[in-house]
Amino acid sequence: MEIKKVGVVGIGTMGHGITQVSAQAGYDVIVVDATDELLKKGMATIDKVMSRNVEKGKVTQEEKDATMGRIKTSTNMKDLADRDVVVEAVFESLDLKKQIFTDLEKICRKDAILGTNTSCLSIMDIAVQTTRPEKVVGLHFFVPPQVMKLLEIVRTIATDDETIEACKKWGESLGKSCVIAKDTPGFIVNALMNPYLLDAIRMYEAGIASAEDIDTAIKMGLNYPMGPLTLCDFAGVDIIKFVADSMYEQTKDPKWIAPVLLNKMVAAGWLGQKTGKGFYDHSK
Ligand SMILES: NC(=O)c1ccc[n+]([C@@H]2O[C@H](COP(=O)([O-])OP(=O)(O)OC[C@H]3O[C@@H](n4cnc5c(N)ncnc54)[C@H](O)[C@@H]3O)[C@@H](O)[C@H]2O)c1
Repeated sequence: MEIKKVGVVGIGTMGHGITQVSAQAGYDVIVVDATDELLKKGMATIDKVMSRNVEKGKVTQEEKDATMGRIKTSTNMKDLADRDVVVEAVFESLDLKKQIFTDLEKICRKDAILGTNTSCLSIMDIAVQTTRPEKVVGLHFFVPPQVMKLLEIVRTIATDDETIEACKKWGESLGKSCVIAKDTPGFIVNALMNPYLLDAIRMYEAGIASAEDIDTAIKMGLNYPMGPLTLCDFAGVDIIKFVADSMYEQTKDPKWIAPVLLNKMVAAGWLGQKTGKGFYDHSK
């Protein structure tokens, strides 16, 4: 099956980016969210990002207009009935995702691919809401989807080869490097990155080095663009805890136990850049 028509559920941080890159690559896109207000806000963000790209000479005004013209918005999931692929990008809640997939199962064509952008939930738990688990797949884009070049395609024990091949072709047409991972907690990137972030927090908590020195050591010693504690502040200290707790629940592997300091910081509302305080002071 060839993907031509794309659906996206949720026009938030990830959904608006997935919508934009799909439309920019020439696909006809319908994006659904709960209210017209949210859709308007998401479309305004896409417009702003595209305008900036026009100013920088990365795209022409004609390309921007054509991209915007390929996107339709809706508050009605039934409008996704003719889509070849639907990417769900709603909040990271298993109950909510299960509900969305129960609805998509009834609405979408039987051969349509249903993808989820979940970061750490089990794809199989979502796939069983449908009668076509062979067409359900993880389509894990990275933030911001307009910039980050990776697409993790996550296959469950039920996903068929045709679905994987169609997603790979689609992902590559969006300019992404596609990697295939099994449906295991954290897939590839989060499974490797999050334990490293938790270890950096434990190192800081144990007083082995200051936050600045841990970050400097990693940047200068390993040539990483950002130190781990800066990255925690950037991603959201609460998100790091959410992922750790979710992984621990799924695996019971002690490497995922959230450090005491992480729990305390979340309780205190020290969530990083978004609240002005995390491992660093962002109030200025
Ligand atoms: N933000 C990241 O860094 C990141 C990176 C990779 C993957 N993800 C994953 O992507 C998914 C979305 O994350 P996000 O950061 O874009 O979230 P977000 O909160 O920015 O956006 C979620 C959107 O879903 C919409 N929504 C909620 N319920 C809905 C419903 N019933 N019908 C239609 N729309 C609904 C909300 O209104 C909102 O616009 C999550 O599963 C998250 O784990 C996030």
